[in-house]
Formats: sequence, structure tokens, C-alpha cells
Amino acid sequence: MSRIQKIKGFSDLFPPESTVFTHMEAVAREVFGAYGCKEVRVPILERTELFARSIGEETDVVQKEMYTFADRKGRSLTLRPEATAGVLRAFIEAGGAEGVTKLFTCGPMFRYERPQKGRMRQFHQLDVEVLGASAPQADAEVILMLWTFLEHLGIPSLALELNSLGCPQCRPTFHQALRDFLGTLDDAALCEDCQRRTTTNPLRVLDCKVPGCREATAAAPRIADYLCPECAAHFARVRAILDAVATPYAINHRLVRGLDYYQRTTFEVLSGDIGAQSAVAGGGRYDGLVAALGGPAVPGIGFACGMERLALLLPPLADRAMDFYLAVLEETALDTALILGQTLRRHGFRGETAFEAKSPKAHLRQANKLGVKTCLLLGSDEMARGVIVVKDMATGVQTTVAQDDLAQALGLRAA
Ligand code: HAM
Repeated sequence: MSRIQKIKGFSDLFPPESTVFTHMEAVAREVFGAYGCKEVRVPILERTELFARSIGEETDVVQKEMYTFADRKGRSLTLRPEATAGVLRAFIEAGGAEGVTKLFTCGPMFRYERPQKGRMRQFHQLDVEVLGASAPQADAEVILMLWTFLEHLGIPSLALELNSLGCPQCRPTFHQALRDFLGTLDDAALCEDCQRRTTTNPLRVLDCKVPGCREATAAAPRIADYLCPECAAHFARVRAILDAVATPYAINHRLVRGLDYYQRTTFEVLSGDIGAQSAVAGGGRYDGLVAALGGPAVPGIGFACGMERLALLLPPLADRAMDFYLAVLEETALDTALILGQTLRRHGFRGETAFEAKSPKAHLRQANKLGVKTCLLLGSDEMARGVIVVKDMATGVQTTVAQDDLAQALGLRAA
């Protein structure tokens, strides 16, 4: 039979790699929970319109990267390319909430990109959305939440970049200035996509990774020079708070992000240690988005971390130690061994029971492989006497104890 292989750009997470993902999720729950975030779980499949309306028709994500298909009734559905749109849809459908709502979610996202190191077609995000706060302090707190999470993971040499994208009041003036500038360029100076973007979505030109486009736009106007007084003051406060807590950052005037819903503060965290796909996290403020999705006028800000990229920076973790391995020397002892294992787990011990009778030597090899503290050996002789052999794997010392006293014996040994 031919083997069925996984899809290009999708990966399986087996131990020990999977331990890193479990660890990241645990740290995320701990750190984001300490700021008041509550976990939400939303579907991975949504109506295509949700993403077109939020992420933006002119973005690469919507134009080229979505897994979109018609379901059996001909409705257009899309595997989520990111979490924000779905979380906001869920928030609106749940009736929204007064005051501030802090949400956390994690899971797989799907983008039809060219796979390479750190870039997958299915990847996982840890995502935070803070709704109902427009103050710059919320921006600063969200950025600090992300930074604290990355510190807890212990990832060195990360760089935080910030920008402000202005608001619907000041951005049109900047757009015009940018269009005027782009109009002065030779058509051939820009890639085909950017030639189109010049009219459809000029901001995206600043985001283009094609070296020729970056060179041609080196002298492009900077949004910082076009911010209205409110946006400038907002951004200054965010920076002042980060300065006050000595969180290092750099202003990146080209940081426009790949999604259209952002206003005011945007940010990314980059690593120099994972190749071309250097952004390990990104986010920003999206004040008009809840309303654009049919909800109330609730402001919002959030971020997402790419788990595959973070995993490239983290070593696999050792498994939690197991207490025992229950070795069975004769087939007649298999049932008793299983029941004894069950009793030990009820007492809080962690361990495995053999499903097959083997020689003591083969079992001890297995016990070593599992790294257990204790190997328990059960043969017909022990069965007849109602006892079991307890071997301390570190010292090699072997004792015989009554099966009925086994949990207590192991407890005393642990003490
Ligand atoms: P994003 O910048 O598109 O933002 O993605 C966030 C992170 O997901 C990236 O920094 C990267 O680490 C990871 N990522 C993106 N695409 C891939 C890929 N193909 N393979 C591996 N990792 C990838 C968002 O998705 C926004 N929803 C973030 C946000 C939340 N903004 C506000 N709230």
C-alpha cells in the first residue's frame, strides 16, 4: 500500500518537539492570566466575508493566502488565517461586554504561503485581544504583557519595534502624501504588486519585502510626520511608559503590518536567530474593527505570537519524571500488574505497566529508557507470595514488599 503523506507546509508535532508547545501554552496561560485574560476557543472555520472585511481585501493574506472553499451548500468558508477576526466575531455574538474584556486564545492558523524555515501553511498562534480600552496605558500594558511572556520563556536577544499608523482623521493626508511620492517613481522601480498597491492600498508598499521596492521607497514620507495631535500624544504616552519601565524598543517607520485593521500603535518583536522569517510576534490597536464587524463601537488592541518561530528559539524540554515502571516476568502476572499500577496512580504516583512478559534484563532496559525512579518486578513467585520486588534505579538496591503495602513503601522511599 502506498503511504499517505502530510500536506506540504503542514507539520506533525511529536514528542519531544510537542513538549515545547505545551510549555509555551502553559506559560502563556500563566502570564496572560496574571493580567486578567480569560481563555476563549473559537472555530477554525469561518465565513470568508469575516476575513475579507477585517483583514482587508487588498492584503496579501486575503488576496493570495487564504484556504477558501465552498461547503456542500455552496457557502464560501475559509480556514482562519489569524485569530483576531474570529475572536471579535465571537465577542460580538456573545453580546459584547461593558468595560474592559481581556481574551486569550491559541491554536492553528492557515496561510497558503511558500513554506520555508519559520513559515508554515499551518502554524500556531498564541493570541491576546484587549477590548474596551482606548487609553495609551492599555497599549503599553499589552506590549508589556507580550514582553513579559517572552521573558518568562527565556528567549534572549529579541528586538521590539513600534510605530503609529494614525487614525481615520490623519491617515488620509499621509496616504495622499505617500501616493504623491509613489507617483513620482518610475513604474519599473516597483514590483507588479506594488504598482497596483500604489492606487489600491499605498501603505502596503512600505511593507513590501522586495529589495527594489524598499530601495525605491527609502525616501518615502513618514507617517510620524503626519499624525494628528491626538495620535501623536497617544503614541508619545505609550513610549513614555515603556521608557519608564526601561523596556527597550526602536521606532520603525515602515512597520505598517500585513493586515489592514490597525490604527495608531503597531508593534512587532523580531529575532535575529531564526532566518528570514524574523517576526516572532506582532500586533497593534484596531479601534474601528469591532464596529466594522457589526458590533458596538468598542476599541481594541492585541497581538499574536507565532509558536513555530518561538519553538525555533527554545530547546525541547525534558519530560516530567515518572515514578515507576512495573515489569512483568510471567504472563500470569499481567492482570495483577495492571491493577497494581492503577492503585499506585490513585495514590498520586506516575508510571507505566508492562503489557508483555519479558526477562528482567529487557524490562530494566525499558525502565532505564523511561528514566523512572523505581522498577517494580512481578513474576509468578512474587504472585504466589503476594509480594513485589522494588528496585531503586539510582542505587540498584532491591527490596521485597507486600503488594498491599506497595504505595506506602514507595511513599516512604520518596520521602
Ligand atoms: P501577524 O503578524 O500576521 O498578526 O501574525 C502574528 C505572528 O504569527 C507573526 O509574527 C509570526 O510569528 C506568526 N506567523 C504568521 N504567519 C506565519 C506563518 N505562515 N508561519 C509561521 N508563523 C507565522 C496577526 O495574525 C494578528 N492577528 C495579530 C493581532 C492580534 N493583532 C491584534 N491582535
